[in-house]
Amino acid sequence: MCGIIGYIGKRNAVPVLLYGLQRLEYRGYDSAGIAVIEKTDKKIIVEKQVGKIKDLQEHLWNKKIEGHIGLGHTRWATHGEPTIENAHPHTSQKGTISIVHNGIIENYLELKKELLDKGYRFKSETDTEVIAHLFEDIYTGDLLDTAFEVAKKLKGAYAIGVISTYEPDRIVGIKKGSPLIIGLGKDENFIASDIPAVLEYTKDFIALDDGEIALVKRDSVEIFTTDGKKVEKNPFHVTWDVSVAEKAGYKHFMQKEIHEQPRTIGDTITGFSSSKTKNMVDTVKNADRLYIIACGTSYHAALVGKFWIEKFAKIPVEVDYASEYRYRDRIIGKNTVVLGISQSGETADTRFALLDAKKEGAKTISLVNVVGSSLSRETDHVLYTYCGPEIGVAATKTFTAQLVSLLLFALELGMKKGTISFRDYEYIHNQLLQIPSKVENILSKDDQIKEIAHRYMSASDFLFLGRNINYPIALEGALKLKEISYIHAEGYPAGEMKHGPIALIDEKMPVVCVAPKDRFYEKIFSNIQEVKARKGKVLSVATEGDSQIKQISDEVIYIPQTIDPLYPILTVIPLQMLSYHIATLLGKDVDQPRNLAKTVTVE
Ligand code: AGP
Ligand code: GLU
Repeated sequence: MCGIIGYIGKRNAVPVLLYGLQRLEYRGYDSAGIAVIEKTDKKIIVEKQVGKIKDLQEHLWNKKIEGHIGLGHTRWATHGEPTIENAHPHTSQKGTISIVHNGIIENYLELKKELLDKGYRFKSETDTEVIAHLFEDIYTGDLLDTAFEVAKKLKGAYAIGVISTYEPDRIVGIKKGSPLIIGLGKDENFIASDIPAVLEYTKDFIALDDGEIALVKRDSVEIFTTDGKKVEKNPFHVTWDVSVAEKAGYKHFMQKEIHEQPRTIGDTITGFSSSKTKNMVDTVKNADRLYIIACGTSYHAALVGKFWIEKFAKIPVEVDYASEYRYRDRIIGKNTVVLGISQSGETADTRFALLDAKKEGAKTISLVNVVGSSLSRETDHVLYTYCGPEIGVAATKTFTAQLVSLLLFALELGMKKGTISFRDYEYIHNQLLQIPSKVENILSKDDQIKEIAHRYMSASDFLFLGRNINYPIALEGALKLKEISYIHAEGYPAGEMKHGPIALIDEKMPVVCVAPKDRFYEKIFSNIQEVKARKGKVLSVATEGDSQIKQISDEVIYIPQTIDPLYPILTVIPLQMLSYHIATLLGKDVDQPRNLAKTVTVE
């Protein structure tokens, strides 16, 4: 959601900004723009376009803009439609201050009224424009001091980049609630929403914390709190390079990421160590209750995690959507632990819910993929998945890695509590080590799954059914399909179908049944019969060697056999592949589906 990039240095800012915006495209956006302080006349030039970065690039084609300081932005509209006027950067009335913003200014109407009364004119419908006018209104002769004053007036969540013709040697970055990092170069520096934006130029970064303001010059970076105190921050170094964020011969990032799973699952198993998790296991082992909160796909991982933690560690687990958890009357005792799962570590719903729970006395843990993300810095303990950047908006490899981390965490807890034996632990662990090659086996069925996709791509609705630990996989299969193909899909516990959704079934309705040979097999087999009896089209995901299921299914995708608790890590793979193929056959933009953002930094 929204991308910010800022550059100051010796290069021409325009290509650096455009390149950075391209690297931020995956976050989801509807319009884009840049503002550069022109080298010769020192005026701010602003160029914006609705649509993709390539539209902005084409628009800039013959314009010879040159300057060494500038800002770029991809907008994911919250206030006002995606139009050129509403696109960022927004510039103050005199054209002296330009800003980009990610987030929502909650008190913008109040501020707008004050500014209108003072005679400021607004060109856009955004909440953001008030920030540009406020800067001009308050300008003290020092951009940093002005930023301290402006920050005091803003309510809501925001990351802001500011440049000004008054002081063309500096960028000011403000962070509260939305992500903002500083890229440290040699004789050049950057601000950005995320690492890939500037990875071409540097691997050294500073992550700003909420309530911090950065003064970024060509040869220095200083960080302050909003009340003006200087803060010393340790830079961090990333080891991956741009190629990790490239498509590597695949047509789409999503396809690449689906196919990376044997490696990312393997890396997450290897990356998990008892010594790293010792403190958090100690925190959770005496918990009276564990809440897991998350959104979207991460929420589905949480639902699977509940089964494992209750089974192996015998700790009661409640799973909640973060956006719901934040505003309900939760019960937090002195032994309550809240675990937040988030690929990005920046999802506003998850972050703010965890911060609230922390304030009320809960101990907090995060499970994130992005190293240095806000959530990882805000919780007492952090657990990582080892996937590298996930660019496709639809989460795939990070989901299976979240599952692996949750399983290993549950086993570690079980060992510590004595609720599982070492023999069981070793047995499950050994079975887990075989999962990457089993995923490889499923990936080799790509052609078969594409053919199935071809047969069902015109359906207007899909139902996904699963039982017990595979019920969240049915939810995830339905989410993947609707996100990228825009086909309506519902996930249901198979046993619940007869209580309502069965009314939807007719000869046009494809029903995807997650039916591995586990201890619920007979039950789901009967549910599939119920679908068949009403002429529904049955697409089963079943265990190799199960010939019986063929008789009641229109299609069967076989997966290798594993032990019951590990099936979700396998059963989800064909569902990711099926959605991918249906969406690409329908000609949809699978990496950047409409209306969606990779990182949702607003509530
Ligand atoms: C997944 O395919 C979705 N794009 C979305 O549901 C996502 O899982 C959700 O927004 C949570 O993101 P997070 O894991 O980064 O917090
Ligand atoms: N709320 C702002 C707008 O609608 C910023 C949105 C964003 O984060 O891209 O313009």
